[in-house]
Amino acid sequence: MKNIILVGFMGVGKGSVAREVIKISDYISIDTDDLIESMENRSVKKIFEQSGETYFRDLEKRVSLWLQNSVSNTLISTGGGFYKQENLKDIGIVVFLNSPFDKILKRIKSHPNAPKKLKKRPLLNDLKKAKELYKERLPQYMAVADIVIDVTDKSALECAKELLEKV
Ligand code: S3P
Repeated sequence: MKNIILVGFMGVGKGSVAREVIKISDYISIDTDDLIESMENRSVKKIFEQSGETYFRDLEKRVSLWLQNSVSNTLISTGGGFYKQENLKDIGIVVFLNSPFDKILKRIKSHPNAPKKLKKRPLLNDLKKAKELYKERLPQYMAVADIVIDVTDKSALECAKELLEKV
């Protein structure tokens, strides 16, 4: 089994889909933000606040090199900017989870823990800027993807099944 790398915008549901995939397959899953938080022993939010975005992107690069050399049979859920790693395709099959910006926002806002979900993502603080970021990234996600799944109005389980059929 080749690794699967889940990419997509903040809040699209990468974590939720990953949790369903591991329930119905032999994959195990890891998350790049979780790896970074344990390397640093502080949250992504704190890393952005205390050390800046460039520092965070350097950590993502270190994680990407480690993943390429150390991980197999794994579903890798990534932070929304991780898709920019040069070696992405050397890590595994790239699956892009897509949905329109407004639907993503709706999804986050309807979550019981919405304030926390918004707060922990520094790049979602300013929604106008976040929409611009989405517009800028969409063609780039498309370009890097081996497989695209439109997650709009689908449950995480439906997306997980579609993913496993397509890889
Ligand atoms: C980021 C997305 C976040 C996290 C960081 C930067 C981005 O992950 O890695 O705040 O650049 O889009 P999620 O996609 O899990 O929110």
